[in-house]
Parts: sequence; structure tokens; C-alpha cells
Amino acid sequence: MTAEAEYAAVPITVTVNGVKHEAVVEPRTLLVYFLREQLGLTGTHVGCDTSQCGACTIHLDDRAVKSCTILAAQANGKKITTIEGLAQDDDFHPVQQGFREKHGLQCGYCTPGMLMTGYAFLQKNPRPSEDEIRTAISGNLCRCTGYVNIVKAVQHAAATLSQGGA
Ligand code: FES
Ligand code: FES
Repeated sequence: MTAEAEYAAVPITVTVNGVKHEAVVEPRTLLVYFLREQLGLTGTHVGCDTSQCGACTIHLDDRAVKSCTILAAQANGKKITTIEGLAQDDDFHPVQQGFREKHGLQCGYCTPGMLMTGYAFLQKNPRPSEDEIRTAISGNLCRCTGYVNIVKAVQHAAATLSQGGA
């Protein structure tokens, strides 16, 4: 394989927040940068770029993943949900509402990742204990809140979702 072929752009097709996108990416492009820079979805944040902080968490085929750990080319053919796809119309998603009600954020930098992790977790475990919530968000770092209100926010969301919220 020639160097040119090795580094040739890669065509991908992804469905992001229900919208199909066809794009061309460099083989080295991380998914988080594809979302932010090529699709303009800047709600997904970059905190560390090294798989530690969780600020870049999205859903890839309904699994919460850190989008700085995945190449855009690896997302070819997959369904992606970002923070921009969480609310329905003008209504906050119950997880967003939980963070609002319980003051689960200060600067907000970690919040998109927390929300995406929290929602994916509640889909698997709708009635979690506090310890289970703390374990679930342990891959998402927040420098501001001390986690107490984030845990309360996830508990609030769990209660809303268990009552039939979206
Ligand atoms: S930016 Fe992806 S884990 Fe920190
Ligand atoms: S609210 Fe500031 S990093 Fe979490």
C-alpha cells in the first residue's frame, strides 16, 4: 500500500440525532472532532483528549462511549446520539430536567457527558442505588460540583422516567 493510499480520506455514513450524514474523514480523525468540527455539534466537549474525563461522551448505537477514544471511520454505518439530540422539541429530557432541578452543574463543562452517561445508565438500570449511580458516573470527571448534586440529579431523572417520563 502506498503512503497516499494509507492516508487516503475515508467516506463514512452516520446517522446523528436522526439525521443521516455522508462525509469524508481522515483516517486519524477522532469521532469527537468529526462531530464538533465537521458537523458543528459543539455540545460534545473535549476535556482531556485521552479517555479520562468523559466530557466527550455520546451514544453510539445506544451505548455510552467516549468519543475521543473512537475514530470517526469506526462509526461508519452507526447511529449516534449527542447532547443536541437529547431534548425532544422544546422539552428538556428528564435527565436534563434532573440536572436543572437539583443544580447538578456549575461551569457545565462536564455536563453533556454526564447527561449522556446518566441516560444510558438509567436505560439499563432504571431504579439504581446511590452507589450504583456513583459507579456509573465514575468515568465522568467534574471539577466543580463534588458530585452530590449530580447524583441527586440522576436520582431525580430516575424517578421521572419510572413515572413514564420520556
Ligand atoms: S475528552 Fe474524551 S474522555 Fe476526556
Ligand atoms: S460542572 Fe464544571 S466540570 Fe462539572
